[in-house]
Amino acid sequence: MSDNARNIDQIIAMCGREEAAAIPILQAIQHDYGFISKEQMKEVCSKTDIKENRLFGIATFYSQFKLTPSGENLIRICKGTACHVRGADNLIDVISEELGIGIGETTADNKFTLETVACLGCCSLAPAIMINNEVYGKLTADKLRGILNEF
Ligand code: FES
Repeated sequence: MSDNARNIDQIIAMCGREEAAAIPILQAIQHDYGFISKEQMKEVCSKTDIKENRLFGIATFYSQFKLTPSGENLIRICKGTACHVRGADNLIDVISEELGIGIGETTADNKFTLETVACLGCCSLAPAIMINNEVYGKLTADKLRGILNEF
């Protein structure tokens, strides 16, 4: 949750109460809280013209919305062209083997969540991943295993 997280009333005041505001509201909640809880969605519906089934439908349809909190460490694997060509899929396999999770999942001990991103903006370091705020580039399967072990 960000330090300046707005409450639901403030988010509605900013985005509007009509159905067209559903996506901006969900984006704002996720931006401020890191994910969107069922309670928050219910509160939004009780205070706007947006129907519950509509809001829940949108939140589950778009993969950009996270409905569960992330683990302690967020791993983002780059799936951009440069990283893809240099073996990003192999890195995903390594993480799945080591941590037992796939994309969009969190380990049972809540230590890691795995996500993909379109490009981390450091293509010369491909294949690259980001763990929390740190980028790890020119990765091999062994290098990645070593990094995961450090956590
Ligand atoms: S494609 Fe991976 S960092 Fe750009």
